[in-house]
Amino acid sequence: MTIQIRAATPKDATAVLSLWREAETHPTTTDDIDSVGRLIAHDPAALLVAESEGRLVGSVIAGWDGWRGSIYRLAVSPSERRRGLGRTLVDEAARHLGSLGAARLQAVVVSDDRRAMGFWLESEWDQQHDRTRFVRNQATPA
Ligand SMILES: CC(C)(COP(=O)(O)OP(=O)(O)OC[C@H]1O[C@@H](n2cnc3c(N)ncnc32)[C@H](O)[C@@H]1OP(=O)(O)O)[C@@H](O)C(=O)NCCC(=O)NCCS
Repeated sequence: MTIQIRAATPKDATAVLSLWREAETHPTTTDDIDSVGRLIAHDPAALLVAESEGRLVGSVIAGWDGWRGSIYRLAVSPSERRRGLGRTLVDEAARHLGSLGAARLQAVVVSDDRRAMGFWLESEWDQQHDRTRFVRNQATPA
């Protein structure tokens, strides 16, 4: 089975949202078609998807703001797990961010999610203990 990693297009938005549900990523207020479309319009290379025989089986968002490279929404379809795809997606995201100039990368991980933490703790990334994230939802123009 060949898995191709490519940048998502707006046509992938519905399948990406389905993958995130199937993979049981932690839902947020921006899990909708408009938000995925906005991301792709803002940076057409930020959302990477893994495709196998026409089906999306993985995703990762590689965001670059000119200061840090940020990784979000790493997801692998349950049927494709433990075959190295998660690691491949992270490596591809890091390679992409590096090509843009990102020297420092970060990933937000739900700390009580044993599966996600298991993946990251086994990676070459370092867990940062002396920072805490603050978040806020806000209204945006329609
Ligand atoms: C986390 C996730 C992306 C991992 O994808 P994956 O394709 O299975 O990961 P890989 O096969 O590349 O795993 C690489 C290594 O990470 C570690 N790892 C992966 N999943 C793990 C788990 N559930 N528990 C412990 N360690 C794990 C292992 O060391 C693994 O190597 P091994 O299989 O040779 O033992 C996938 O389980 C997933 O989509 N989970 C739901 C969404 C999520 O939590 N995403 C992360 C948000 S930051």
